[in-house]
Amino acid sequence: MASLTSSPPVQLPLIDVSPLLQGSPSESLSACVSSIDAACREFGFFLIENHGVDPTLQQRMHELSLQFFALPEEVKAEIKMDVGGSAWRGWFPVGGELTSGLPDQKEGLYFGAELPATDPRVAAKVPLHGPNLFPASPPQLKEVVNEWFGEMRRLGKALLRGVALGLKMPEDYFEQNIAADPTCLFRIFHYPPSKSASEWGVGEHTDYGLITLLAQDSCGGLQVKLPHHDVGWLSVPALPGVLVINLGDMLDRLTEGRYRSTPHRVKNASGRDRLSFPFFVDPSWDAVVKAMPLEGAPPSDDASRRWDGKSVHAWEGTYGTYLTAKVSKCFPELFTEVQENKDGPKQSMY
Ligand code: OGA
Ligand code: NI
Repeated sequence: MASLTSSPPVQLPLIDVSPLLQGSPSESLSACVSSIDAACREFGFFLIENHGVDPTLQQRMHELSLQFFALPEEVKAEIKMDVGGSAWRGWFPVGGELTSGLPDQKEGLYFGAELPATDPRVAAKVPLHGPNLFPASPPQLKEVVNEWFGEMRRLGKALLRGVALGLKMPEDYFEQNIAADPTCLFRIFHYPPSKSASEWGVGEHTDYGLITLLAQDSCGGLQVKLPHHDVGWLSVPALPGVLVINLGDMLDRLTEGRYRSTPHRVKNASGRDRLSFPFFVDPSWDAVVKAMPLEGAPPSDDASRRWDGKSVHAWEGTYGTYLTAKVSKCFPELFTEVQENKDGPKQSMY
């Protein structure tokens, strides 16, 4: 029997972000900023609409990606990740990534900022830096990925301005500090239909950086474990034209837990092939990530509840070291060189 006192089901907020893109202060901007702040505090996850990204661009990327994933394994393997090594670009097969220690039931294409071999960081073999590996077929995928990359970087910067304002900081706080040259990563994932209840498309994890902008198709399957609601795993709706935004560990670290990086996972139970397109906007590679000077006392640490049992607040260092340590756990064979290089920065917490 429904009780009059029962609370409504928890739902992720859907935020109209157009005021953030117009660039002039307005009443609707302050309403938008307070919705973002409330969503970051309460959920670490929210949905956005009116973000200005052409819906046909995602459609084209979806179709071209399906064409690529349908190619024979040996053709896809022409750009397999081993080709770029620790530059971390190209294709990996189903089971090739271990997000939470077990093989994920997904295959994917990894992209990052396009850097030529002559770039000093590429020449010095700094992990995660290098040229992209684009497939020869379908040839149009390169152009569409580059366009999406630019759109997401633009939107990610606008969202970070909103996050800064929500924290009562100057709107260019991130641009002026730790995200002056943001580390941007983009992935295209294909999740085949799930075959077993015990296998995950992506195991439980939090994202590593500042914010993630995820486009997904209509299959659904993304689940989140909300930090302040005891409702188990909540399914994130898959709505046309809507992007999912979630916070990464560095925003949790910067805000000393006022904003949490929320654990999430994926199971594709739709019976269809699922595609998703996560774009990560992260601190600059060399940025030292420390707590921001924010008002009020932060909440207590949540290490014991975190998926990896590690406190993100006890950690100190540059974002590059954090990311390399995380990524080398997911792709151990690509990073043997990095792990063996003991002269590099210390990664003791891992
Ligand atoms: C990720 C992630 C979700 C998805 O890449 O970190 O959580 O739907 N992806 O692919
Ligand atoms: Ni994630």
